[in-house]
Formats: sequence, structure tokens, C-alpha cells
Amino acid sequence: MKSKKNLVFLGMMGSGKSSIGSLVAKKFKLNFVDVDKEIEKNLNTTIRKIFETKGEEYFRKIEQKITLKKLKLSSTVVSLGGGAFANKNIRNEVLKNHYSFWLNWNEKILIERIKNSKKRPLTINATDNDLIDLIKKRTNIYSKALYEIKCDNLTKNEIVGKIKEIYETN
Ligand code: S3P
Repeated sequence: MKSKKNLVFLGMMGSGKSSIGSLVAKKFKLNFVDVDKEIEKNLNTTIRKIFETKGEEYFRKIEQKITLKKLKLSSTVVSLGGGAFANKNIRNEVLKNHYSFWLNWNEKILIERIKNSKKRPLTINATDNDLIDLIKKRTNIYSKALYEIKCDNLTKNEIVGKIKEIYETN
């Protein structure tokens, strides 16, 4: 991948977008941007607080604005928030102008990872069934990504290795 396109990581909460994304950036000597962190920096508060005080709709507007702004960078690894790719404007931009990687895990692993998370507003009062529904809905959307990485049974390094293979052969 020798173009200036960004490498965009997407997938469910708990799929490792930030941790894998930053490892990939280090390996390829690219800059790394975590959009959730950018939102928190911009508003000087946590995502949980934004949801609590201003609501999800407000969060989604800010998320769109900051994600589209960060996507204007080039040759950068960008990890999206779990819901960002469900936004049509973000999705169209990612699909048209960047390389997208969906970190796909089976739902059991994801649920184990996210169900007790206190910092993720969508999981705080969610039952396992709510999370299963969300994963199903999101899977349809994430599957539009250019590359799907099947992560089950792989270590972080193996996942990075798979991405490296794609990176080097495209
Ligand atoms: C969300 C995922 C979160 C964060 C917000 C909403 C979602 O990001 O953007 O809590 O809708 O799936 P992570 O996927 O980084 O946890």
C-alpha cells in the first residue's frame, strides 16, 4: 500500500481497534489517531459523560464531524468508534477514499469483553440479548469494509501479521 490513503480500523466495541491500530501504526511507522480519544480531547470530557449530559444524537453529530476531519489526514492509521461506520457519510468516505479493516470476532468473545465495561454507554444497562442484537445489526454494516480480518484464535501479533500481509501485497 504505497498510496497516501489512511488505514481505517472498524468493528464492534472490544474488537481491539485501538490496540491493534496502534501496533499496526508502530510497525509501519505511520501516525495513529483514535477518534474516540480525539472526541474526548476536543470536548474535554469522557464519552460516557457526553452521552449522559447531551445524549447519543449529539454524540453522533460530533463523532461525524471529528471522524470526517481526521480522515482528511493521509497515510495515517485511524481507529473509528464502534458506531461510526453505521453513519452513511462516514462509511461512504471510508469506502471511497481509504483502506478499511474490519476486526471480526465471534459474538461470545465480544460480549465477554464489553458486558462489564463502565466507560461504554451502550453497554451499561444492556443484557446479553441486547448486545447480540447490536452485534447482528452491526455485522451487516461492518461487512462492507474492504478487508475482513477473522480474529478468533489469533494473538494480537498474528492479527498484525495478517494486516501486514495485506498491506504489503496491495
Ligand atoms: C460506540 C462505541 C464506542 C464509542 C461510543 C459508542 C458504539 O467506541 O464510540 O461508546 O456505538 O459502538 P469503541 O468501539 O472504541 O468502544
